[in-house]
Amino acid sequence: MNGRYLRHGEAAVHVEDRGLQLGDSIYEVCRVEAGGLLDEAGHLDRLERSLAALELPMPMAREPLRLVMRELIRRNRIRDGIVYLQITRGPFRRDHPMPEGAAKPTLILTARAYDRAAAMARMASGVKIIARPDERWARRDIKTTQLLPAVLAKTAAKRAGANEAWLVDDDGFVTEGGSTNAWIVDAKGTLVTRPLSRDILPGVTRAVVLAAARDAQMTVEERKFTVAEALAAREAFLTSASGAAVPVVAIDGAAMGDGRPGPLTLRLQALYAAKSGGGGD
Ligand code: PDD
Repeated sequence: MNGRYLRHGEAAVHVEDRGLQLGDSIYEVCRVEAGGLLDEAGHLDRLERSLAALELPMPMAREPLRLVMRELIRRNRIRDGIVYLQITRGPFRRDHPMPEGAAKPTLILTARAYDRAAAMARMASGVKIIARPDERWARRDIKTTQLLPAVLAKTAAKRAGANEAWLVDDDGFVTEGGSTNAWIVDAKGTLVTRPLSRDILPGVTRAVVLAAARDAQMTVEERKFTVAEALAAREAFLTSASGAAVPVVAIDGAAMGDGRPGPLTLRLQALYAAKSGGGGD
């Protein structure tokens, strides 16, 4: 945190930190597999893009930041887990406009292990999802920590016995999941995901999976789809740093196909694993 390695319980922000007070803050989540960071360049590129959108400077240069991420993984002895990175505008007397003068961003990095067996089980057996109205702001392409709509939607999903909520725009089209991008394999066998715009987060995993699918000569279309189309689709899945091509086996309580992960989804899992550049270094 801010250039120091601290014990988890001792790391704290100022009460007037703008991340806490105003959600004036952005973040990244990067998966660690076998001690190495997956899709690191993509996550750092998006970090720089989010910072630029909020007129925030990088609190440290990219190369030293990469070293800090590695050191954090090492000190926490993480083999499989995530690195979480957050940058806020820092502590200032509370006032909505961005403060003029010198920047003093708060930089927070944490690393934690995750349950690899549970993640593998999700990849193999799939997850259930529910559909909810998309109640977020209009700049969903920026990875800000203003996550209350996702908190509410994902809580509703959990209470319904599901893992994710697909968020639906005012015209009835799925934007993405609360913390994942959304995909289907339509009735013709075409891989479909919503095109990039301000409506969705440009998922790093989404980009890797898209490239892998195109390399493997799969038919791919970036277009919007509805929940009804997803229910009639051959397959559906989710992508995020915490899981590439996680099969969706039920939507709003209705089983997808035979309720088992589809073949294209399983193939994309394998293609992602080959392309994402995991492993230690
Ligand atoms: N979520 N869409 C949303 C709204 C997200 O929050 C995320 C990531 C994604 C997938 O992006 P990526 O493939 O770059 O992880 C899509 C992270 C994992 C989180 O909030 O924990």
